[in-house]
Amino acid sequence: MNDTATHTPKQETPEKPAAYPQLRLRRLRAAPWIRDMVQETHIRVTDLIWPVFVTEGTNIRQPVTSMPDVERLSIDLLSEEVKEAAALGIRAIALFPVVPAEKKTPQGAEALNPNNLICRAITALKKSTPDMGIIADVALDPYTDHGHDGLLRDGKIINDETVAILCQQALIQARAGADVIAPSDMMDGRIGAIRKTLDSAGFQELLLLSYAAKYASGFYGPFRDAVNSAPFLKGDKKTYQMNPANGAEALREVVQDIAEGADMVMVKPGLPYLDIITRIKTTLNIPTFAYQVSGEYAMIKAAAAQGWLDYDSCLLETLMSFKRAGCDGILTYGAHHAARLLRNNY
Ligand code: PBG
Repeated sequence: MNDTATHTPKQETPEKPAAYPQLRLRRLRAAPWIRDMVQETHIRVTDLIWPVFVTEGTNIRQPVTSMPDVERLSIDLLSEEVKEAAALGIRAIALFPVVPAEKKTPQGAEALNPNNLICRAITALKKSTPDMGIIADVALDPYTDHGHDGLLRDGKIINDETVAILCQQALIQARAGADVIAPSDMMDGRIGAIRKTLDSAGFQELLLLSYAAKYASGFYGPFRDAVNSAPFLKGDKKTYQMNPANGAEALREVVQDIAEGADMVMVKPGLPYLDIITRIKTTLNIPTFAYQVSGEYAMIKAAAAQGWLDYDSCLLETLMSFKRAGCDGILTYGAHHAARLLRNNY
């Protein structure tokens, strides 16, 4: 019997997808042009936010030992670096102050000094790079002598009195010229309270980026070195930062913060919590950010320094994973370097 005469092409239906040998997925990987054409996710320099550390003085440049290539910079040098970042296409930075030990107190009063380091830095940077988005962190940990993000009383972090202070901290940073207020303290109700304070002071336009799902993580170690809070921190932050075992609770945090007026939410750390990013994005479809934190950066850098990993490709691979998971923006200490790689069409 003549086989060809009765042959009908196989219909590919969803019920019966093509299979090998008709289907060969390697065809789509055979050459750079086709690989690039079918690439599902893209990373752009405009997705990146660069966290930077500012310190007192002039012409000061101090390396952070546990974060190779990250420096604490005085405002004058930081302004130059931020100009360079702008030239590379970076559109936003997140500012963190290194507060000298003598300015740390139990109540963190320096957080409310309108002429403190962070406020002077915001104002100076807004002047030297007006188009750069400036994200200001709201939390008390750089300013307290116990290293906690809130007020400590009888061994407990007290929520509502802390929130009242955070509102004032947000307000002075808004007045200094911040574009985004980013509360990283994890107190209950702070987003609503800060929104109300900002609105009634005429800052209705100011953006709020909530560190909504911030976990009590071991990956913050190098950051605490960088901002000099590690030697001060008493105990841990588990009564306010989230249990790494919890995912549904992250959604509750996010839903609450959005209801209180957050424009954007953040998941922190990044790589160990990609599932949380995806759950937020797929269930709520809101602007979602990830913070690739200091410990994540240090891991890649340390392995690269040993020659065990290739820094450039691993950095870009991690950034791509955040985008694939559903992120809009990514905070990464590698932003400056990634911007160079992306510019060179890595
Ligand atoms: C504290 C704060 C932390 C980070 C950003 N803001 C550390 C902490 O919660 O102890 C960590 C960032 C990083 O590790 O890169 N408000």
